[in-house]
Formats: sequence, structure tokens, C-alpha cells
Amino acid sequence: MKILGIETSCDETGVCIIKTQETEAGGNLTVLGNQLYSQVKLHEQYGGVFPMMAKREHAKNLVPLLEACLREAGLYISKDKANLSPSLDKEAEIRKVGAVKKILEREGNLFVELQKLLETIEKPTIDAIAVTNGPGLEPALWVGVVFAKALNAVWGIPIIPTNHMEGHVVVSSLIKTENKNEYSIIETKYPALALLISGGHTQLVLIKGNLQYKIIGNTCDDAVGEAYDKVARMLGLPYPGGKIISDLAKKERTEFPSKKTPYPLPRPMIHSKDLNFSFSGLKTAVLYTLKKLPEITDQIKQEIALEFENAVLDVLTSKVSQAIEEYDPKTIIIGGGVSANPMIRSELQKICNKYNINFLVPEVAASTDNALMIALAGFMNIKAGGQTTTDFRANGNLSL
Ligand code: KG4
Ligand code: ZN
Repeated sequence: MKILGIETSCDETGVCIIKTQETEAGGNLTVLGNQLYSQVKLHEQYGGVFPMMAKREHAKNLVPLLEACLREAGLYISKDKANLSPSLDKEAEIRKVGAVKKILEREGNLFVELQKLLETIEKPTIDAIAVTNGPGLEPALWVGVVFAKALNAVWGIPIIPTNHMEGHVVVSSLIKTENKNEYSIIETKYPALALLISGGHTQLVLIKGNLQYKIIGNTCDDAVGEAYDKVARMLGLPYPGGKIISDLAKKERTEFPSKKTPYPLPRPMIHSKDLNFSFSGLKTAVLYTLKKLPEITDQIKQEIALEFENAVLDVLTSKVSQAIEEYDPKTIIIGGGVSANPMIRSELQKICNKYNINFLVPEVAASTDNALMIALAGFMNIKAGGQTTTDFRANGNLSL
């Protein structure tokens, strides 16, 4: 089965085409084409993602990325060369253009660009389109959704609306094989526990069986990635700050392995009996610490980055351990942009070793937003009997 994945929930525009094959052990997946355009440079000046600008950029990038992805996948067949399908009768063609125009009525440029592409190529051999319909920034999600619906109107390829967070969960089940772009999809042992940590989410999710989710812990305020980004901003570092803070923390850890932190920070909610999180107080504690200092030197930035990351690590590992004690999972999964963090990976690996639990981690490049995870989640949903539909909307608050 070939699936086209489309991701536009935040500031990455992603288009990916996968080919899947079911096997007894789960399945194989080949990435036929994978295109990603990151808007971070544009949003950097605002210190965060500007939703309407994200939307405009997605609209600008979707057609070139789709074209590049089809070419990469060998599915770009020019109309004149193909001569495979009998040319549609004129009336049907006009009806289709009208349908696409209606779907994209608020996206004039996207319509024009898409129309240009559609006039030159044959319908690709793709079985389904998986598009993120939430959660995320609603205007940004909206462009991806109408783009998928336009492709459906012209090509008749069914759509499977896909949850972005489910993408972050399932991408951890891909294990790279020796062949380039080929992965095995491994069967997850249930119950599993997923720690989803991104710019918009901090959640502990109990997965009782295939695609059966129950949120057992959530943040009461900021997401952990948001806290990383805000602390980076306070330290005068560019957006997104997660990796920069993490690199500074590593430098401090390596240079001064036994130094006592000069700026202790709190571990919010670490002793709360529930599995919820709070990161806003930690961020504010950094702000107050900085306010007391006459100047913020590079050394101080390093020290604060390390203490901040240690506070995050303490809270995350403590909550995961608590959830393991409560739910006795067979697998721990991490996902979301913050799961690219090497310390979070290694600390959770230690916990899994201690409890003798499987640990599923996405490839670093697949931790942050991408369309591969959306295509895969779409495939898994179709396999599980999920319905394809065009009767759905973008939903910024969609829950697992
Ligand atoms: O999943 P993602 O790409 O987008 C959302 O859905 O939010 O996550 C982006 C977040 C940003 O807050 C970014 O700072 C953080 O992931 N991030 C990291 C690292 N790499 C990305 N945080 C900590 N350490 C990293 N290495
Ligand atoms: Zn994400």
C-alpha cells in the first residue's frame, strides 16, 4: 500500500510517500519520498511560531514539496508522456477544476499552483492520503486539510484524517534495516506507556492495545518544549531553543562534572501524587534568577541551561517511574520534538533497563515534526479498520 502523508500542524511543512508491506512480524516500510521544509528561520525573529505566517508558508510550500516528493518516489508521470489513461472528457475535467477551486476558495495562490501541477501530471498510484487534522495551530492545520481534500477531489484518492500525536507515538516502532530508506515496523508489546514531549504537549499516555489511548498525565500549564524555548529566549538564545539549551547543558556537564549548581531551580510537582506536570513555575524561577544577576555571561547561561535540564530530567524520570509502578507496562515509548534530547533518551533507557521494559525511541530526525510519522499513523489506522472520509475538519485541540 502506498500512502501520501501531509503534515502542517506547526512550523514544518512535510510531505512523504511510504510503501508498506504487511509481514508476520508486523510489516516493512519503504520511504519512497520524504520532503520537509522548516520555517524556523522565519519565526525566529518572533521568538515563536506566528500562526498566520505558518499558514501562509505552508500554502506556499505544499505544491513544490508534493512535486519534489512525487519525483523522488518515481511517481511523477508527465501527462503527455504517459498516454496511459484515456483523456477525460472535457466536462468531467471542468467539474473537477471547479471542485478544487471551491475547496481552495480561500487559498487563491495555492489553487493556482496546484492547478499548474495537476495539468502536467497523471494521477499517481497512491492508495490513501494521511493528513494531520490536529492537534496544532488551527490555521496551519487547515491548509494541509484543504490541500488533501483538493487532491482527493481531483484524483479520488481516499483520505484518512490523522492525529499528530499518534504520529509521534507510532514513529517509534520503525527500526532501520540495512537497506537505505527501509524500515521494519515492529509489533509493540502492550500495555505500553508513551511520554509525549513537544512544543505543544507534555503527556503520559497509557496504550492498552493497538491504537487504544488513555491520557494518564498532562501538563497543567506549559509544555516541556515550550519551557525549553522560553528559557532559551530569556538567555538571549535563538528559537527553537531546545537543542541549544541541551548543547549548553552538555558543555557544562562535561567541563565541570562535579560542580554544585550556583542557581538551584525547583522540580515542580515532582512529589504530587498524580502523573501531571507543570513547567511554568520552572520557567518563572529562571526569570527571577536572571533578574537578580547584574549580567548574564556565557558561563552563567551554561550553568542555568544545565540546572534547567536537570530539573526537567528529574521531573520526567520521576513521573515515568511512578507510572511504571502504577501501570506495569511492557513497553515505554517516547515521542515529540523534545524526545530528540540525548539526556532524556539515556535516562529513560536506564529506567527501562532497571525495570526490564522495552524502550521504543524514534530516530532523532523523526522526533521532530515530519510527514513520515503521519503517513505511518495513517497506514496503521487503515490496517485497524479506520474509515477514510472527506467529512472532517482541522481541530487544533484534537486529543488522542
Ligand atoms: O514535536 P515538535 O517538532 O513540534 C511540536 O509538535 O511542538 O517539537 C518541537 C519542540 C521545540 O520546543 C524544540 O525546542 C524541542 O522540540 N526540541 C528539543 C530538542 N530538539 C527539539 N528540546 C530539547 N532537546 C532537544 N534536543
Ligand atoms: Zn509535534
